[in-house]
Amino acid sequence: MEKIVRTKVKDLLRMKPGQDVLAKGWVRTKRGNKEIAFIALNDGSTINNIQIVVDKAEIGAEVLAKISTGACIAVTGALVESVGSGQAVEIKARAIEVYGECDPMRYPLQKKDTSFEYLRTVGHMRMRTNTFGAVLRIRNQMAFAIHEYFHSKGFVYLHTPLITASDAEGAGQMFQVTTLDLNNVPKNKKGEPDFTKDFFGKQTSLTVSGQLEGELGATALGEIYTFGPTFRAENSNTPRHLAEFWLIEPEMAFYDTNDNMDLAEDFIKHLVRYALDHCYDDVKFLNDRYDDGLIARLESVVKTDFVRLEYTEGIKILEQAVADGVQFEYPVSWGVDLQSEHERFLVEKHFGKPVILTGYPKDIKAFYMKQDENGKTVRAMDVLFPKIGEIIGGSEREASLEKLEARIAELGMSRRNLEWYIDTRRFGSCPHSGFGLGFERLLLFVTGVTNIRDVIPFPRTPKNAEF
Ligand code: 4AD
Ligand code: MG
Repeated sequence: MEKIVRTKVKDLLRMKPGQDVLAKGWVRTKRGNKEIAFIALNDGSTINNIQIVVDKAEIGAEVLAKISTGACIAVTGALVESVGSGQAVEIKARAIEVYGECDPMRYPLQKKDTSFEYLRTVGHMRMRTNTFGAVLRIRNQMAFAIHEYFHSKGFVYLHTPLITASDAEGAGQMFQVTTLDLNNVPKNKKGEPDFTKDFFGKQTSLTVSGQLEGELGATALGEIYTFGPTFRAENSNTPRHLAEFWLIEPEMAFYDTNDNMDLAEDFIKHLVRYALDHCYDDVKFLNDRYDDGLIARLESVVKTDFVRLEYTEGIKILEQAVADGVQFEYPVSWGVDLQSEHERFLVEKHFGKPVILTGYPKDIKAFYMKQDENGKTVRAMDVLFPKIGEIIGGSEREASLEKLEARIAELGMSRRNLEWYIDTRRFGSCPHSGFGLGFERLLLFVTGVTNIRDVIPFPRTPKNAEF
């Protein structure tokens, strides 16, 4: 007999009945009566299961007894039209091989408790659930869509270092990288750790952003983007912060702040539209199971023009809200860094759509941002989203050597590891801009999941680094 090749469930569900097939996967459920059993089989290729119809007399009680939720099996049989509702086809089993049994008394996903909190305690198994399957398939599609988007626009994918000797970005506390013996740290004459003895001969850390190196690329290749993991040792235990998260950072020569905003808006709309077009089954599952406003929110973001608002105007709106009786946990006045509650008020309550906030006070933003004529604000741009708050942060960059150096001096920053960066302004400086999209923040929006620990397979947060 001809050997049958395995077909993925996703493809089986679209095939015409009347052929012999081989399916492999994990059992979601088994039910039935004395004569017939129905097995729902999933192999991770889709949120949908294929139904296996088992005639007990044909397959044997012994084999069937080994099959329970979580077991891994291979099924050969005929793909037939399904009589039950819910699916077009099902497999009438002719032979079943049990690859791996799954003890119902011990399988952690057997429990009734399927809350995100519980699933975090069995992080090694949670990818087997429908919910994490959906989230991780969407994550995969979004990563692909990001590369495709920039590729189609001629951006160069630039690999910036994960280990860095630069601490200039100031985007967050850094994790040190060292091979020094922590029980016997060599000291210099001042009694400080002697990093000349360290692996790189200097102090190094994990990067918080690839931007500064990205600017080297953009001022040579024109338009680049980075997409990689970044590390921030902030002790912020919130549903929106990870210590290790993935960051997408485009950087473009000859873009001013308006070009920067246009790209950010187009980019994010493209990604949301891509999710609706290419991940509909998974998005629909999450919509129906957890958040029935999800699809409507995604569709609305794709259609609406984002609000573009100066920080100063935003503060006026928030101060007016306070005067009208709205209570915020943190006070608001010109000069403060906005908290997530303020961002969400603007987006969800006041405008009812995404907001791009620009012209922030220079004192709450990074040294490299283009300074406005007024001497007080910079061409920063944050994109604020419903349910999330800040999803993108970026700016036009200060292209003037004099102004950049003055700002570095004003902030009392060390130039020791920064001369290479300043050279971009010293030699052939050009107007340029860029921004960073937090990949997991995007996924929070696209999946409707509310805790950032649940949109990354292996979350790293304070006091938590399993696996
Ligand atoms: O606003 P941030 O700190 O900007 C930068 O890193 C710039 N270098 C970007 C640039 O202009 N090239 O971070 C960018 C985005 C934030 O808007 C947010 O979406 C995300 O990164 N982000 C985090 N995501 C998860 N966990 C954290 N701890 C995050 N910190 C920032
Ligand atoms: Mg930011």
